[in-house]
Amino acid sequence: MKVLLIGSGGREHALGWKLASSPRVRELVSLPGNPGLAQLGPVIEGIDATDAGAVAAMAATQRFDLVVVGPEAPLAAGVADAVQRHGIPVFGPTRAAARLEASKSHAKDVMARAGVPTGWAVTTTDPEEAQRHLEDRPGPYVVKADGLAAGKGVLVTDSREDAIAWADRWLSEGPVVIEEFLDGPEVSVFAVCTDSGARPLEPARDYKRLGDGDTGPNTGGMGAYSPVDDLPPGLVDDVMRRVIEPTLSQLEDEGTPFRGFLYAGLVLTADGPKVLEFNVRLGDPETQTVLPRLDNDLIDVIEGADPVWSDRATVTVVLAAAGYPDSPVKDAEIRGISDAEADALVFHAGTRQEGRKILVDGGRVLAVVGSGDDLADARGRAYDAAGVITWPGRQMRTDIGLAL
Ligand code: GLY
Repeated sequence: MKVLLIGSGGREHALGWKLASSPRVRELVSLPGNPGLAQLGPVIEGIDATDAGAVAAMAATQRFDLVVVGPEAPLAAGVADAVQRHGIPVFGPTRAAARLEASKSHAKDVMARAGVPTGWAVTTTDPEEAQRHLEDRPGPYVVKADGLAAGKGVLVTDSREDAIAWADRWLSEGPVVIEEFLDGPEVSVFAVCTDSGARPLEPARDYKRLGDGDTGPNTGGMGAYSPVDDLPPGLVDDVMRRVIEPTLSQLEDEGTPFRGFLYAGLVLTADGPKVLEFNVRLGDPETQTVLPRLDNDLIDVIEGADPVWSDRATVTVVLAAAGYPDSPVKDAEIRGISDAEADALVFHAGTRQEGRKILVDGGRVLAVVGSGDDLADARGRAYDAAGVITWPGRQMRTDIGLAL
């Protein structure tokens, strides 16, 4: 197969690494890719990954056999629809199915129709109505931009004033959703949704805060580990039965079937698991953590085979730029990547190549993944490798894989 992978982050480097290891893949091409993906095959420049028509035309001209889409933005822009219209198989939902992430209010409506457990929500386009809803209730308040906001559209706060200000700020861009605060530990379940049904991936636990001990600002994710052995027994099967399968059946019945990776973000409340949000993509850095534990071929899995999991543990440590998450400092030269690769996987995210140099080019720069017989072994390997990669101001948590 000649496979086109769309995306440029650490998640896509991990997807590309796994796809390229398949004996069924003759060539892996990435759009726009990154310096890590460039080591696995050609990268395409000059086409915007969210320009559905241009991506599809290129995929047809270059005769791809399969297109795999990593991030949500191209899916929300209809890349899967356009590629399919050229008769090319694509793994990733259509624009209509991707609304599960691209519109929080739509996701709530689908869940209500499907009987999927989630908190109450109201959607509004009117600042006065938003204010009334917030004044009617005690905190904590949860206010979300309805549309895609690259993880920046959500506020959870005890301050009614801040909640009202947040609603006002996002109402200038579109509808806002005010929803119930769900209390309890967060867990994510990822499913591979194929023509022959949905199958769960192994869970990974991610660490969202910048600092050790879960302190500091929220980030895209500073690390993760897998397996997670303190989840309630039967949780994944329960979520498949009560959340993933009813949602997929509902979308099928509504004429917008979902094919691709479905990510259910859940809160384990006193009343059982409830959905916080859906994403129509895999998690980052969960993907980097889980795919090294997948023993069989990812192409077979996205075509409907059962995933086969290794008993080994993985720990992923994210190396972030100075100033991340508010104002990442770019352009520093990164040293030590090839030394780190001696005993770990190093996935690129915010990097760029200039000549032989690899430079910092974004917030989350690299994900270093150690594999071991158990969590402690994997953790040791991940941190040994992460420790040899340096640049000025590099940030890293030191407690990934330890109990929070
Ligand atoms: N690690 C969380 C996410 O990918 O959204």
